[in-house]
Amino acid sequence: MYSRIVIVFTLFVALEAGSAHYVTQERVCFPESFQFGVATASYQIEGAWNVSGKGESIWDSYTHMYPERIFDHKTGDVAADSYHLFKEDVKLMVKLGVQYYRFSISWPRILPNGLSNEINKDGIRYYNELMDELIQNNIQPMVTMYHWDLPKSLQELGGWTNPIIADYFVDYARVLFNNFGNKVSAWLTFNEPLSFCQGGYGGLDAPGDQASGFEDYLCGHNVLRAHGMVYRMYQEEFEAKLLTSVGITLDFSWLEPAMESLEDKIAAETARQFFFGWFAHPIFSSIGDYPQIMRKRIDSISKKQGFHRSRLPYFTTEEIEMIRGSADFLGLNHYTTYLVAKSKKKISSEPSFAADMGGIISQKSSWPKSNSTWLKVVPWGFRLSLNWVKRAYNNPLVVITENGVSLEKGLLDKRRIEYIDGYLKALHTAITKDHCNVYGYTYWSLIDNFEWTRGYSERFGLYQVDFDSPNKTRKPRISSEYYARVARTKCLPIWDF
Ligand code: NOJ
Repeated sequence: MYSRIVIVFTLFVALEAGSAHYVTQERVCFPESFQFGVATASYQIEGAWNVSGKGESIWDSYTHMYPERIFDHKTGDVAADSYHLFKEDVKLMVKLGVQYYRFSISWPRILPNGLSNEINKDGIRYYNELMDELIQNNIQPMVTMYHWDLPKSLQELGGWTNPIIADYFVDYARVLFNNFGNKVSAWLTFNEPLSFCQGGYGGLDAPGDQASGFEDYLCGHNVLRAHGMVYRMYQEEFEAKLLTSVGITLDFSWLEPAMESLEDKIAAETARQFFFGWFAHPIFSSIGDYPQIMRKRIDSISKKQGFHRSRLPYFTTEEIEMIRGSADFLGLNHYTTYLVAKSKKKISSEPSFAADMGGIISQKSSWPKSNSTWLKVVPWGFRLSLNWVKRAYNNPLVVITENGVSLEKGLLDKRRIEYIDGYLKALHTAITKDHCNVYGYTYWSLIDNFEWTRGYSERFGLYQVDFDSPNKTRKPRISSEYYARVARTKCLPIWDF
């Protein structure tokens, strides 16, 4: 659908009455064809963790086994209860006037043991009803196949570190295309592989393996293979009969040199290749495969550490070709910016992604804060990220699949309006002045939800959820009114507090 969109740029110049004379005010307007949406993910909102045949996911078992690893010791067992309340969620989206809804499908709700021999009818029913409700209300479903809730049974085989998982992921994707193919306007195979490979296999997100510089690379390797294989299967079996497109969501925080020095500039560019190029280069560059600098650094550091093979696996020539070009568009998640300085530390014998990357990451204390330690408000980094993507990968089609901010509980979230406003202005400049090929923007998130190891302590919703109330009451924040104006008019309102 989206690849057929022709972007027409219109900039409105509105004449408004001033006190004594007319003043000309330039309004920030996006092209008519530009799309606005909102996003959520299955584990973060659905609840119903063990209902009607659903299998267990790694986030179910992780939150149950290690409550101390979750900030408020809570779980996603009930979350915002969207499994039961999805019609209410759709009503909120109707109020917003958004054109699409990005949500994810829970793999173990569809395939309880991860494999396609047993399909859970209730899972198919649930997502069909959600999609029908959306379509009846003129909201297009944009679906993520994998937003981190891996079936537990597959983690018992090593999860994303076991190469066989790519085949199982293809089987799962085929079930999705067969059952929902004609309802979904755009598919995303994965959400933020950097986060779940580095954070999950290299750190303390589920499954919490903490094997940085080793398991994270195995995970990334199999995710890239799985993505490419799904895309090629889609081309062979479904492309001709479905009016849809298939992409992947990658997260890209802007990485700015800490100082104007050449060494920090090199460190920042290296960091971009490690954090973003790791997944983007094999798919979106013209030559494919991992970024050269990543290959070079990890091969040489592995050798110095006494490994007999590189900790970063090698693709076969066929795999490089299969993965290269395997996306109709790039889904980009962008929230914040970091500074990068060259690390002066000596490499130890302990493998680590950070040491392989070789930069020290920080943020300026003067940058405005949010309610998440990692998220500072730096809109100019958004424009720079988009321009970097444009240059590195020949201006691919991009949809912003997430952007948003966490704040304290409360309905008067003026700072959220300022955040969205600032980031949308940066995006608008990237589109109109820099000609970056972006055709959609998705706010994260529609409603407050389970923020992984931060539990319910960090709230990103346009709608507040009262997690203590039995019916998980949703209440509009003032940012929802602001965003409704944006989604309906495609122009940024002049907001008067
Ligand atoms: C990225 C993830 O995709 C999403 O699950 C998370 O809640 C937001 N960022 C905010 O941290």
